[in-house]
Amino acid sequence: MTTWQKTDWRSKPRIQMPTYTDAAALNAAESRLSGYPPLVFAGEVRRLKSQLAAASRGEAFLLQGGDCAESFAEFSADGIRDTFKVMLQMAMVLTYGAKVPVVKVGRMAGQMAKPRSADTETVDGVELPSYRGDIINGFDFDEASRVPDPERMLQAYTQAAATLNLLRAFSTGGYADVHQVHQWTLGFTSGDEASKYREIANRISDTLDFMQAAGMTPERNHELQTVDFYTSHEALLLEYEEALCRLDSTSGKWLAGSGHMVWIGDRTRQPDGAHVEFCKGVQNPIGLKCGPSMTSGHLKSLMASLNPNNEEGRLTLIARFGAGQVGDHLPRLIKAVEEEGAKVLWTCDAMHGNTIKSTTGYKTRPFDSVLREVREFFGIHKAEGTVPGGVHFEMTGADVTECTGGVRAVTDEDLSDRYHTACDPRLNASQSLELAFLVAEELSDRRETLNAAKAG
Ligand code: PEP
Ligand code: CO
Repeated sequence: MTTWQKTDWRSKPRIQMPTYTDAAALNAAESRLSGYPPLVFAGEVRRLKSQLAAASRGEAFLLQGGDCAESFAEFSADGIRDTFKVMLQMAMVLTYGAKVPVVKVGRMAGQMAKPRSADTETVDGVELPSYRGDIINGFDFDEASRVPDPERMLQAYTQAAATLNLLRAFSTGGYADVHQVHQWTLGFTSGDEASKYREIANRISDTLDFMQAAGMTPERNHELQTVDFYTSHEALLLEYEEALCRLDSTSGKWLAGSGHMVWIGDRTRQPDGAHVEFCKGVQNPIGLKCGPSMTSGHLKSLMASLNPNNEEGRLTLIARFGAGQVGDHLPRLIKAVEEEGAKVLWTCDAMHGNTIKSTTGYKTRPFDSVLREVREFFGIHKAEGTVPGGVHFEMTGADVTECTGGVRAVTDEDLSDRYHTACDPRLNASQSLELAFLVAEELSDRRETLNAAKAG
């Protein structure tokens, strides 16, 4: 019996959330949202949980990716399609290396609230409240834009619903049919990663031809024609989360109806804080960002409150320490998990510990640091005998210049060309695919290690 209520977070210390000044407007927005349909359904959330459980055992692998912050301005069908397509391509490459299913989870359809390191921003001597994501306030640097507006939650809901609708259509309406594996290459006309991708695509088509010849026709292989694609975001704006929280009649448990998986950010994971309190009570898979300041004590107390029944697939620990620092922090957290006998899925967010300021003044992330952090993550799990179960990237299908490096070598000078992010720098389509090939090498090695462990 749970006595948890979706409003319980309101009596806990809250940080990184806006103070709405117009209480009547806030109430009106909350009550309208509360009457709207949830965006996701409990059965889907349970299926994702069982797939994440498989990933925690090394029988699947999690690919989580998308924008740092979805914005109202950049919202378009092409943008959604391109990011979805790159994730399918990456998943294909990763499956090829890992030889296990890749669980695909977008930072999409709700990733619109941002924690900030400073409450205000100063430009040319003018100080204004920080931008906190389109669901809260506006990006433009003027006083009116920066006022938190509760009406934005309704626009965010509408955008999330339309995004999810298109993702569902792409996932099951033919676009994601593996027989289209060659079509997904369109847009990659040159480059090393494109020809490597084509090589894998050729091998996959050969296999499909063989299967067809052997009588396994596409009509009989529904599995090959559709994909499961899930959504996720940081559960930061709790007024929005509460308004979309629903009681699932099948299980009698609460569901965050805003997305399949939600996570708790590195800045809002206080064991007694509002964000942990909210996530405790919903049945969705929960992600927990683990940055350098996470102690074993914090982690143990968070695991106990977020996953008291030690349910597999419930808790994903998203390590984000920065290249060169994984060895300083990950081993103590792995030890804490092992000491508790806790069931968790370990994944690596190789973005948030690697943000630097470029010589040209842009916030960027060097491709090499991202790759290095992923490699360190795999290396430490190998040494500890634990399972590296997934990766988490900020990426887009668009041809942006926000992260430096990669085979097409984006330089500090190039950053100004196509720097479109509303928040943190994202890997572009080509960098994402290149990274997938490099992660796939780690995964082939993981397969040998896991097989050897099984045999031994
Ligand atoms: C993010 O995922 O965009 C983010 C803010 O991450 P973190 O909480 O790990 O800093
Ligand atoms: Co970010």
